[in-house]
Amino acid sequence: MVELSLPQNSKLTKGKTFGKKGKNMTCLKVYRWNRESGSNPRIDEYFINKKKFGPMILDALMHIKNYIDPSLTFRRSCREGICGSCSMNINGTNTLACLKPLPDSKEINIYPLPHMKVLKDLVPDLTEFFEQYKSIKPWIKSGKKNKKENIQSPEDRKKLDGLYECVLCACCSTSCPSYWWNSEKFLGPAILLQAYRFIADSRDKSQKERLDFLKDKFKLYRCHTIMNCTKTCPKHLNPAKAIANIKKLQVSS
Ligand code: SF4
Ligand code: SF4
Ligand code: FES
Repeated sequence: MVELSLPQNSKLTKGKTFGKKGKNMTCLKVYRWNRESGSNPRIDEYFINKKKFGPMILDALMHIKNYIDPSLTFRRSCREGICGSCSMNINGTNTLACLKPLPDSKEINIYPLPHMKVLKDLVPDLTEFFEQYKSIKPWIKSGKKNKKENIQSPEDRKKLDGLYECVLCACCSTSCPSYWWNSEKFLGPAILLQAYRFIADSRDKSQKERLDFLKDKFKLYRCHTIMNCTKTCPKHLNPAKAIANIKKLQVSS
């Protein structure tokens, strides 16, 4: 019989507790792991007073790092939902910590993005994700050396709405079961949305080459329209629709 359980060294243990329960106190339960320690991952609990920092989860994490525990590690830069670096799993949903308001609940669970290797605490290893991004050639290939400006009509520019806003946070890809099981071969929703962004760009002249690259039972067709990607995207984009558009073009090309 198949045994589905975590390897011994991945099992979560109880970690440290900082502060204690009280009025206005919220408990952040945060995943911690440091490969150099040789210990199992643990969950640390931080009791923090909501009145002492801004309204977002990232504000809470910054408060912990600045005033309680400087060893807590996470990525962030813009705190405006633009850089895509503060993606993590908050109360079971992948999202950007800087766009996620602190919920009213007394307890908030914070983990790294699921099904990715962890480098430290809330920082996932995105090497493969960005290698996949590179593979779709994310730049405009106009086919000739343009001496003049490569002009686009307002109507054609509009076709990029809902695509260019992607911040490559990987929330969608790491919520996709097909990507969990085949991340080395399936490109996943984020990269496929980016691929479509260039296919749909009227200034790009390599649509056929791009579609041929994706004509593959794993790269594109591992998407089974489960729609987790669209549900989770913190920028309210629709990667599943972009994937469906690529599939339609594959049929008609
Ligand atoms: S489509 Fe949304 S969830 Fe996916 S990488 Fe882009 S911004 Fe992030
Ligand atoms: S629609 Fe496709 S890419 Fe999106 S979660 Fe489902 S299987 Fe993954
Ligand atoms: S810090 Fe840049 S998206 Fe959150």
